[in-house]
Amino acid sequence: MKVLISDSLSEEGVSKLQEHFDVDVSTGLSEDELVEKIVDFDALVIRSGTQVTKRVIEAADNLKIVGRAGVGVDNINIDAATEKGIIVVNAPEGNMLSAAEHTIAMMMSMARNIPQANASLKAKKWERKNFMGVEVNGKTLGVIGLGRIGAEVAKRAQGMEMDILGYDPFVTEERAKSMGVELTTVDDIAKRADFITVHTPLTKETRNILDAAQFDMMKGNARVINCARGGIINEEALADALKAGKIAGAAIDVFTSEPPFDCPFIDIDNVIVTPHLGASTEEAQVNVAVSVAEEVISVLNGGSARNT
Ligand code: NAD
Ligand code: MLT
Repeated sequence: MKVLISDSLSEEGVSKLQEHFDVDVSTGLSEDELVEKIVDFDALVIRSGTQVTKRVIEAADNLKIVGRAGVGVDNINIDAATEKGIIVVNAPEGNMLSAAEHTIAMMMSMARNIPQANASLKAKKWERKNFMGVEVNGKTLGVIGLGRIGAEVAKRAQGMEMDILGYDPFVTEERAKSMGVELTTVDDIAKRADFITVHTPLTKETRNILDAAQFDMMKGNARVINCARGGIINEEALADALKAGKIAGAAIDVFTSEPPFDCPFIDIDNVIVTPHLGASTEEAQVNVAVSVAEEVISVLNGGSARNT
């Protein structure tokens, strides 16, 4: 059996697969190159870089499984794969703590202007007055999407004495209560929260869940965070709100188009950005690589998959 790994994968996952199969690691392939190559392979292992398009699936005559070393499967044409009987698996747990920690890091960096202050001092300037921050203690954090990562963010923010508002149509009052979260609506979060963070998948319901109408409702000291998927917060509306001084800042890890060099808010001073680093820790990358390797080994040996 042959496995193609088309994005960089932690060595622990690669060697696990090599114990069982013939493994080809080829990263940075264009769609045409992948279409030509995929025909020989029984499994494809990817991260977020590879786009598994309908054309790729149609060309994949031997493919049995696509393994996504991470959470989001939005770079895979699931309908085309399902139609062809190809199993799609992800690694839903391996990077959740890293993504939650990155969210907290972004919130604190934004609250204390750390990236801007760092850049200023390295430019040999001593500008203490320009970087007055805010405490998070006693502030309200709105969490939109209370799944694995949202719940971990809420827990960590409670450790810093923040009050948590939450919105998630699939979470019961009972579950929210056990998490110490007050369930409410997106608009109520927009009106009341000092910090708002989104942790949903990108779907037609969540696209632009924070839009111009919500920015209009926010307090002037509100700050928003997106470490989930580009497009959950409307990028144009965010840029307009920041330029008009309607909100105090934004911390963004993910973008509708990556790399986001044409993104409308990338150059605004009170926005801090990272290049989709939520899962970029040594621990998370080993976890997701091993998890996906185990799934591929099971399926290609005639067994079942856990995370379909
Ligand atoms: P999850 O499936 O555990 O949780 C998602 C939550 O969103 C669920 O509780 C679900 O009920 C909720 N939800 C669905 N539709 C909703 C809606 N319309 N309104 C409000 N809530 C809704 O997923 P997760 O592992 O917590 O991941 C969350 C997001 O983070 C995903 O988009 C994932 O791709 C992304 N992610 C990003 C990074 C990164 O590198 N920045 C790393 C890991 C995950
Ligand atoms: C994910 O969905 O797991 C993240 O976006 C992280 C990644 O793709 O590496």
